[in-house]
Amino acid sequence: MGSRGYFFVLLHAFVFVSLATSVFSQLTPNYYDYSCPNALSTIKSVVEAAVQKEYRMGASLLRLHFHDCFVNGCDGSILLDPSPTIDSEKNSRANFQSARGFEVVDEIKGAVDEACGKPVVSCADILAVAARDSVVALGGPTWDVPLGRRDSTTASRDAADASIPAAFFNLSQLITNFKNHGLDEKDLVVLSGGHSIGYAQCVAFRDRIYNDSNIDPNFAQDLKYICPRTGGDTNLSPLDQTAAKFDIQYFSGLVQKNGLLHSDQELFNGGCTDELVKEYSYDSDDFFVDFGNSMIKMGNIQPLTGNQGEIRVNCRKVN
Ligand code: HEM
Ligand SMILES: *[C@@H]1O[C@H](CO)[C@@H](O)[C@H](O)[C@H]1NC(C)=O
Ligand SMILES: *[C@@H]1O[C@H](CO)[C@@H](O)[C@H](O)[C@H]1NC(C)=O
Repeated sequence: MGSRGYFFVLLHAFVFVSLATSVFSQLTPNYYDYSCPNALSTIKSVVEAAVQKEYRMGASLLRLHFHDCFVNGCDGSILLDPSPTIDSEKNSRANFQSARGFEVVDEIKGAVDEACGKPVVSCADILAVAARDSVVALGGPTWDVPLGRRDSTTASRDAADASIPAAFFNLSQLITNFKNHGLDEKDLVVLSGGHSIGYAQCVAFRDRIYNDSNIDPNFAQDLKYICPRTGGDTNLSPLDQTAAKFDIQYFSGLVQKNGLLHSDQELFNGGCTDELVKEYSYDSDDFFVDFGNSMIKMGNIQPLTGNQGEIRVNCRKVN
């Protein structure tokens, strides 16, 4: 082969490698095997203790990973506190007085850095692993979490406002929002199953119980005691009937028009996602397998890798 031939082989190799790294994630479940062999067991034990103490914490940690990944990728940006240079995502519409679990993340970070003897595990990876461990602690499926994300040095409240879906979204808005993050209709349905655990505040479902017609009237009536027309904005209701257990109750609830959020019921309202909701409402094995796969897909959204970003020492602050 002449030098031209080698050039083309090299060119092809180069194109293939750059394509591969952009299409396939560089993350790997074994990332910390040598640098910190106890990282995963340390995270797991802190998460288990936190969920034992308050089961809702499992839901709150799962949501943090979602809200991290949907804003400029899974880069730990949601964890940065406000500062002169950080327009904190904690103050965005979806997160303000709603996102919680930051103290547990601090606790995990402290424990894992001690176990490793140095700060080698990123805050973004801690969120991804804590989300998985939370789901497992509440009876859900497990999956291998690809790792190796690095932490951002920036955050954006505006990006959070523009990227995190809202409870008043209709189906087409939800589909478009997920599509903008590289996730399809199936991922939307599967990942909304995260609402199998945890709670929502009255302000997030008031319009639904007073104004929506695709709601079981008895269900709506019961909720009106918890969530009056005025006042009680922060009163909580479980997102499904078994908020402490990761199961398919969320989907059977949707089939019975017992979705708590407007966005939940949109997934079973005569549209293209009805069939999948119905399937998950009786097939827990399918839901569990698909949930793990879609969580991996969500966790692969635009991670910082290689020498991008940093490994934060304190998840709340840029180094
Ligand atoms: C599809 C679009 C989604 C919308 C519109 C949405 C909206 C919401 C809202 C409004 C709440 C209640 C927050 C509050 O009242 O303080 C909530 C809670 C929650 N969301 Fe979502 N969500 C969506 C998708 C997801 C996804 C993909 C996950 C995870 C895979 C998730 C996990 C959770 C969890 C676990 C809670 C309960 C948190 C707690 O109790 O602390 N959500 N969501
Ligand atoms: C969904 O909401 C958008 C924005 O408000 C609106 O333009 C669209 O017509 C709605 N779609 C459906 C099917 O209701
Ligand atoms: C319901 O819809 C009416 C009319 O569009 C609106 O004025 C009201 O704020 C909505 N929400 C509730 C809780 O009634």
